[in-house]
Amino acid sequence: MNSGEGKVVCVTGASGYIASWLVKFLLQRGYTVRATVRDPNNPNKVDHLLKLDGAKEKLEIFKADLLEEGSFDSVIQGCHGVFHTASPAHFLVNDPQVGSLSCTYILMSYKVHTLVGLAVFHVEHM
Ligand SMILES: NC(=O)c1ccc[n+]([C@@H]2O[C@H](COP(=O)([O-])OP(=O)(O)OC[C@H]3O[C@@H](n4cnc5c(N)ncnc54)[C@H](OP(=O)(O)O)[C@@H]3O)[C@@H](O)[C@H]2O)c1
Repeated sequence: MNSGEGKVVCVTGASGYIASWLVKFLLQRGYTVRATVRDPNNPNKVDHLLKLDGAKEKLEIFKADLLEEGSFDSVIQGCHGVFHTASPAHFLVNDPQVGSLSCTYILMSYKVHTLVGLAVFHVEHM
């Protein structure tokens, strides 16, 4: 099952529950995976990913934070698809209409072929 051979995909929030499974399945299918986490030096966030089959050959881990403008630019650029699961938790939202950035923004801005978005995230500069 190597349908992903030769394709590069990004998984945001890769340390998370859903993303970790995605990384595993994508590696199994031969994709090259660019995984983003906020702290690549924290073993609690990346060790389980680095131990996955295929990780040594096809997993790259990048530092990226949704709350830092431009943080994902170089990671997403050139990817065939993006699995956007990173999701900051905001417990105080004054105006949900202001600052909401949908996954469509990623799709249009980075010209990726496929975007699977689980989260609608919030950026301060919008
Ligand atoms: N789990 C479910 O059953 C379920 C069902 C439906 C929808 N969803 C949605 O799917 C998405 C993922 O769910 P999950 O259960 O996998 O969540 P999760 O385990 O909490 O993972 C979310 C990830 O988002 C990352 N994150 C948080 N703030 C960030 C920021 N500012 N910049 C970059 N990354 C950030 C976290 O990374 P760090 O490690 O750096 O903190 C974390 O690994 C969420 O939007 C959730 O609402 C989940």
